[in-house]
Formats: sequence, structure tokens, C-alpha cells
Amino acid sequence: MLNFTYYNPTRIVFGKGTIAELKTLVPGNAKILMTYGGGSIKSNGVYAQVHEALEGRPLVEFGGIEANPQYETCLKAVAIARSENVDFLLAVGGGSVIDATKFVAAALKYSGGEPWALLSNWPLIRSAVPLGVVLTLPGTGSEMNGGAVISRHATQEKLFFSTEHTFPQFSIIDPEATYSLPKRQFANGTIDAFVQVLEQYLTYPVDSPLQDRFSEGILKTILEEAPKVVADPKNYTARANLMWCATNGLNGLIGCGVPQDWASHMIGHELTVLYGVDHGQSLALVMPLLMRHQRQRKRAKLLQYARRVWGLGAADEDACIDRAIANTEAFFRSLGASVRLAELDIPPTAASLIAERLAKRRMLVGEHHDLGRKEVEEILSMNAGSVA
Ligand code: NZQ
Repeated sequence: MLNFTYYNPTRIVFGKGTIAELKTLVPGNAKILMTYGGGSIKSNGVYAQVHEALEGRPLVEFGGIEANPQYETCLKAVAIARSENVDFLLAVGGGSVIDATKFVAAALKYSGGEPWALLSNWPLIRSAVPLGVVLTLPGTGSEMNGGAVISRHATQEKLFFSTEHTFPQFSIIDPEATYSLPKRQFANGTIDAFVQVLEQYLTYPVDSPLQDRFSEGILKTILEEAPKVVADPKNYTARANLMWCATNGLNGLIGCGVPQDWASHMIGHELTVLYGVDHGQSLALVMPLLMRHQRQRKRAKLLQYARRVWGLGAADEDACIDRAIANTEAFFRSLGASVRLAELDIPPTAASLIAERLAKRRMLVGEHHDLGRKEVEEILSMNAGSVA
């Protein structure tokens, strides 16, 4: 096992009816900025529950945070928070609202110029305004980590930071808040959670059986529970299990002391910025291609994945790996995602364009930190393969 430091200060408040606990979770003397997205919380009752819990408390609102939150939108929220002397941020939404709020929290304490710099120079983040979360879309794990991903139209960039200063103080996870999720967003979140675990699991063995079994447990639970939600969107138990899977997929625990990949995320971010592909959908496109391209270097873990997650017992190792990759694609498809770039009208030229953009940033991805321009182009060009 590799050396590691593990720190996670986020209090999780989980279950039915827990939004009411905002009353005691938000500090009594706080001036609150409540942030949210395009309005789903108004139609599913979450907005009303938040207001009921915080009745009589000084609160201003900032709505309209878009999916893949934009830097320009975050700056507007920073301006409002400053002019209203806000000292606590409450994010009510999915990964985009939470990430934008984390960025705002850090930007409010930054006086060194354009806060865009925080995304490429993380040590510039030395503190942040405290924040809390009411989660409405499980997948990113942002409710229990210090990471945030922000996009910028002007430069067509999607960059992230990760810092201990932007861990939420608390996150409320009420599975009933997810009943209203459209199929597409349920698929995005579920695939994100699944692929995030693979990013930390599907690398090479370092004698870390506990982390491996944590990861396999999450993957198997997602495979068992997701179809139950597809069949019955109001299945509370399945929703609850999936939410807890997603939170544990990126709260740092399963990644302790193991190599991590993240190539699918970095390539996926480019697909989002250039072609408007949803984040979860981008991962469904890239991860299976990466598995095929890196098949030899990931062989031991691919085989373990085939045997332990998919229960594939055939003696022929290559056949097992082929089947595990095909099963992964079939699972993504069963949720409604595409697994081929062409199905989303992404042109073949995307491969060289994305490879060049990452190379310009001197970005080497993968667990060996050595996948560069050539490999990224090869990975995205493998798309011509047959459909699972
Ligand atoms: O904006 P509203 O109206 O709220 O609608 C949202 C949005 O349109 C809707 N939605 C959310 N909860 C809902 C709901 N609709 C009905 N009922 C509900 N309960 O879903 C749409 C997508 O929301 P968004 O927050 O964008 O989705 P997600 O949670 O998948 O977040 C994606 C963002 O998170 C980043 C991604 O890159 C992307 O920008 N990530 C953040 C990570 C992190 N901080 O650790 C890691 C992730 O891998 C990811 O990169």
C-alpha cells in the first residue's frame, strides 16, 4: 500500500426528513447565501423545505447555476455575497451547484486578482467561507469532498481544484429529494459514481485488499440497486443505497494508499466543454475505451474486476476481460447512455483536437502519469469498435 493522509471533516446527515435539521446545522448567527440551479428544487418541494427550516433567518438567494457551472456565474454570486455581507453558503442541488458554491467560498477569501487562478494554482486557496449542502443528485461525491470543477466559456476550459478548505461543514442527504430526477440525470449520476470508483480501483495492484473490497462493494451495490430505481423511481431503499454509494465513491476513503487514474475524467471534461456532453455521459464514452487501450497495463485489476464484480469465472482470462468490458458498456446503455462518440454526433476529429488541448496544458493522465497526446488520440479513436 502507498503512504497516505486521510482527512474528512464533513458531517453527513442522512435520511428521510433530514432537511428540517438545517435549523440546527446552519450556525445561528449566520447570514446565509442559498445557492441553487435552474429551478428543480422549486418543483420538487426541496426549496420549500429549506425555507421552512430556516424561517426567520437572514437569507439571500442566488439561483440559476447551470450544469457544468460557469466561472462568470460564480463571479455574480461572489458579488452578491460580498454586497450582502454573507458569512455562510448553503448549496442546494447537485454537483454543479455544490462545486460553484465551493468556488464562491474560496473566491470570497481571495484578494490576489482574478479568482480563475485558484483552479490552476491550488495553494492560492488559503481559506474559504464555510458552506453546507443539501444534496439533490447523487453521483459526484462533491457533498463530502473538497473538490470543485468550474468551466469558462471564454477560454473553453473546464478545470478543477481540490483543497481541504472547501469541504462542506455538513451535507444533508435525503433520498426522497431525488425522486424527481429525470432519467437522464439519474443515469449521469449513477455512471459518474460507478466510473469514479473505477478511476481509483482499475489501476494496478498494490496489496490493498481493504480498498479493493470497498470499491468492489460499491460497484456491486450500484449494479444491484440502479435497476431497482429504473423500475420504480420511488424505491426509497434503492435510492438511499445509491446515494450512500456515490458519497463513498469520492470522499477519499477508497482512494487511500492506492494509485489513481482519472484519465476518463480529464478526457471527459474536454468532451463536455467542446461538444456539450453531460459529465456522466462523457465518462460512459471514455472509460470503456480506456479499458481496452490500457488492457495490458491494467490486466491484473481488469481480471479481478471481471471475477469479483461481474462474477465471471471462465478459465480464459482474455475472454473474461472482454466480457467485463462489454458488461460495463451494457450497464451504461441500460441506463440510457451512449457508449460511442458517433452516436452523439461527435466527429472523429475530436480525438486529435482533445489530445492537442491536453498536450498544450502539459497534462499527462492515467495512474502512471504518462498518457499524453499520442495515447489520448488513440483512446478516442478506438471508438470505431463494434457496439456492445
Ligand atoms: O439546475 P436544476 O434545475 O436544479 O436541475 C438540475 C440540472 O439540470 C437537475 N437536477 C438536480 N437535482 C435534481 C434535478 N432535477 C430534478 N430533481 C432533482 N432532485 O440535474 C441537472 C444536472 O445537475 P448537475 O448538478 O449539473 O449534475 P451533477 O450532480 O451530475 O454534477 C455535474 C458537475 O459536477 C462535476 C462535473 O464535472 C459537472 O460539472 N463533478 C464534480 C466532482 C467533484 N466536485 O468532486 C466530481 C465529479 O466527477 C464531477 O467532475
